[in-house]
Amino acid sequence: MNKPVVYSGIQPTGIITIGNYIGAITNWLKLADDYDCIYGIADLHALTVRQVPSEYRQRALSFFAQYLACGLDPEKNILYFQSHVHEHAELSWILNCFTYIGEMQRMTQFKDKALKHQDNINMGLLDYPVLMAADILLYQTALVPVGADQKQHLEITRDIAVRFNNLYSPTFTVPEAYIPKQGARVFSLQDPTAKMSKSDPDPNAAVSIIEDPDSIMRKFKRAVTDSDAEVRFDPESKPGVSNLMTIMSEMGGMPIEEIEKNYSGKGYAVFKSACAEAVIEHLKPVRERYAALTGDKEYLMRIAGEGAARASAIAGRTMAKVRRKVGLVSLK
Ligand code: TRP
Repeated sequence: MNKPVVYSGIQPTGIITIGNYIGAITNWLKLADDYDCIYGIADLHALTVRQVPSEYRQRALSFFAQYLACGLDPEKNILYFQSHVHEHAELSWILNCFTYIGEMQRMTQFKDKALKHQDNINMGLLDYPVLMAADILLYQTALVPVGADQKQHLEITRDIAVRFNNLYSPTFTVPEAYIPKQGARVFSLQDPTAKMSKSDPDPNAAVSIIEDPDSIMRKFKRAVTDSDAEVRFDPESKPGVSNLMTIMSEMGGMPIEEIEKNYSGKGYAVFKSACAEAVIEHLKPVRERYAALTGDKEYLMRIAGEGAARASAIAGRTMAKVRRKVGLVSLK
């Protein structure tokens, strides 16, 4: 490995939305030339809230297949399940011993989740950022693409890395946030002032990348707009319509101005259907590849196994360093 490492983890919860696709995944496809990219299905992280085991297993596998279906090439990127690489749990234990309880209690996501899951404020929930730090630091990651909600976790990762490096000697690369160029932001179809969320309880708010065409059409027709019936890009006063225009522009590959011109005076019904059509059309190959992949579990598991082996080889080197520095006895 000699290119800078980009690492990202994805919790296998909710759905992979067209917002994730436009805002993140399409960017990742381009990163592979300049970076060594590692994407982990963060299946240990999502255990911090209760999951139904059979559904969880299914969903994690489905997420893996969806990433492949989007065109993430397993030859050029490392794609794997976090739980298949034992070094994550191992390093996270050691990093726990270099992290203060107060630091974790201050995390805003911990506070939010503790409020939301009052009957299950488990240690994992508190420790979540340390596992995330382990994910990142194991691979000597230079850059982590993160949204606003994960900034604080990246900051604490940096603090832990610097602390460890200062106590011993340089061991971990101190990662930076990677702010992708102009990644378009996609908002909820039901509340265009809120980001489209992969776990929105309202099924009409988000569209999955493998959703069937009828359902996509229905959701776009129901999308919240405004009452002046003009297709004009104005995120401030027309967030709903502007959001649909962004989606159409990204999926249909045409500039916003062209959309404005083509749909001026045509009314929202026509525009919304066209927008849905652009999404359906663009995602067709993703849907088809996904169907083929889920029918070939043997192939999926082979790719997952190879990804885990490659990840583990890198993670193992970092772990060996860490063990030596903290003074654990080596068998060799
Ligand atoms: N916590 C991240 C999220 O919820 C997921 C995640 C786990 C992650 N490990 C990571 C993101 C490492 C970046 C790097 O979005």
